[in-house]
Amino acid sequence: MSVAVKTICCIGAGYVGGPTMAVIADKCRDLKVIVVDLNKEKIDSWNNEDLSKLPIYEPGLKELIKRCRGKNLFFSTKVKQSIAQSDMVFISVNTPTKQSGLGAGEASDLKYIESSARSIAEYAIGHTIVVEKSTIPVKTAEVIKTILISSQNDLKKKSSKSFSVLSNPEFLAEGTAIDDLINPSRVLIGGESTSSINALVNIYKNWVDEEKIIKTNIWSSELSKLTANAFLAQRVSSINSISALCEKTGADISEVAKAVGMDYRIGKNFLKSGPGFGGSCFKKDILNLVYICKLYGLNEVANYWNEVLEINHWQQNRLTNIILKKLFNTATNKKIGILGFSFKANTNDTRESPAINICTNLLIDGANLSIYDPKVKFQEIYNNLKDFKNSEDISFNYEDRICMASSYEELANGADAILILTEWNEFKKIQWSKISKLMRKPSWIFDCRDIIDLNDFVESDLNIWKLGFGSNVDNLK
Ligand code: NAD
Ligand code: UGA
Repeated sequence: MSVAVKTICCIGAGYVGGPTMAVIADKCRDLKVIVVDLNKEKIDSWNNEDLSKLPIYEPGLKELIKRCRGKNLFFSTKVKQSIAQSDMVFISVNTPTKQSGLGAGEASDLKYIESSARSIAEYAIGHTIVVEKSTIPVKTAEVIKTILISSQNDLKKKSSKSFSVLSNPEFLAEGTAIDDLINPSRVLIGGESTSSINALVNIYKNWVDEEKIIKTNIWSSELSKLTANAFLAQRVSSINSISALCEKTGADISEVAKAVGMDYRIGKNFLKSGPGFGGSCFKKDILNLVYICKLYGLNEVANYWNEVLEINHWQQNRLTNIILKKLFNTATNKKIGILGFSFKANTNDTRESPAINICTNLLIDGANLSIYDPKVKFQEIYNNLKDFKNSEDISFNYEDRICMASSYEELANGADAILILTEWNEFKKIQWSKISKLMRKPSWIFDCRDIIDLNDFVESDLNIWKLGFGSNVDNLK
């Protein structure tokens, strides 16, 4: 048996809520899908006629919005009315690391989950299926249920509301979100109520093969999401740790990754060495895992996962030190060009981008930065770097030392070094012979994303340093 679902609502119009609901609306034309957010500016952007002004950049998203918005997909700030008319409500709000109080620096801050649950408890009518889409600590469904049940028992309201809670974590990656949603590796649904699970399965069945839909108990579902992210991050830290050894020994990290990844038990994905993982989730989800392990007294497990984060931070600092060493141990008054500021290609998201830490380190050492990113706005870059200002040295006047370049030529003009920090495809087409003429000599290119082909530089007077590339070894002595 399954519950009939005609209208769904998603609380949170962010990187997950927006694209996920757009795909559901596109694939289920009989469903009415409403995405709500308290942030009016964000909702206005989702409703902007000019599709280049959507709040997030994601390949394929504009086309979906064009097809569905105003037909069966709506973006609104009307939380109350939207919940009231929905049979199913997804919670897709942010779950950042707690900044203060109990568990600060590790535990997830569940205040947005709690306020969403309270809104659902207050405004829902009849039977409502509540779906956890956000990534949350294992056992959060308990919190949500407690809040919902207490409203059910609120006799003063004399209402006949009832709820069931499902966990349905999202596995999309930014930059490939639409593809990931359309062709998911799996859809995970945890819960107790068979009819509610079936109602959600019926939505996904419109485009996902039923064999890919896994049903588990709710706690397995919650914990699987944290574990999947921890495993992915661990692979990046593992390959990054080996990149440092390659540089010392003459091995080439891309060759090592290929040789290792061809073992079918290991697999070739997620073995790309780089400046460290960024993004809003890996760090916060591992911190959360570490916190939960400590709560249960599993200190060895906590320490194990914490190392994945330590290596990530170390990789970013290690890169800065190599760069500074090449620049005669100082970046003071040197112009350094930064290619790419988003945490990966094909997204405008800068949350936890390795560029933030690396650029900050260089600013602290006195560099002037000229930054180019195809999709990140200057204000966003500036806000990210400004936030670090006070933690290191309040006397720096960063404003004059960061600028946005509008072309590769502008970025290169008079620069001592250029760093490639994001693997945007367009960087592969840069004509380095032209760039070389504009830079101050000796000039350096630091390729942290395996973008450039060394064969193109045989005749060049540019000094090239590639992350994890063993032939750098002589230059480093
Ligand atoms: P986000 O910050 O982009 O979006 C969250 C939105 O929720 C914000 O716009 C915020 O204003 C809104 N919000 C918060 N409280 C609200 C409330 N009470 N009522 C209405 N709106 C409210 O976050 P995101 O990147 O979309 O991530 C959401 C969740 O999904 C997180 O738990 C994250 O870990 C998880 N996740 C993220 C990704 C990703 O790639 N970004 C992938 C999988 C899972
Ligand atoms: C990641 C997971 O891949 C998603 O499955 C998950 O749903 C999501 O987190 C989440 O929960 O938020 P995302 O952070 O968007 O997705 O992007 P990834 O492709 O995983 O990249 C994360 C970081 O690792 C990036 O900085 C990327 O450059 C880096 N990375 C990734 C590498 O350095 N090497 C690799 O081989 C892969």
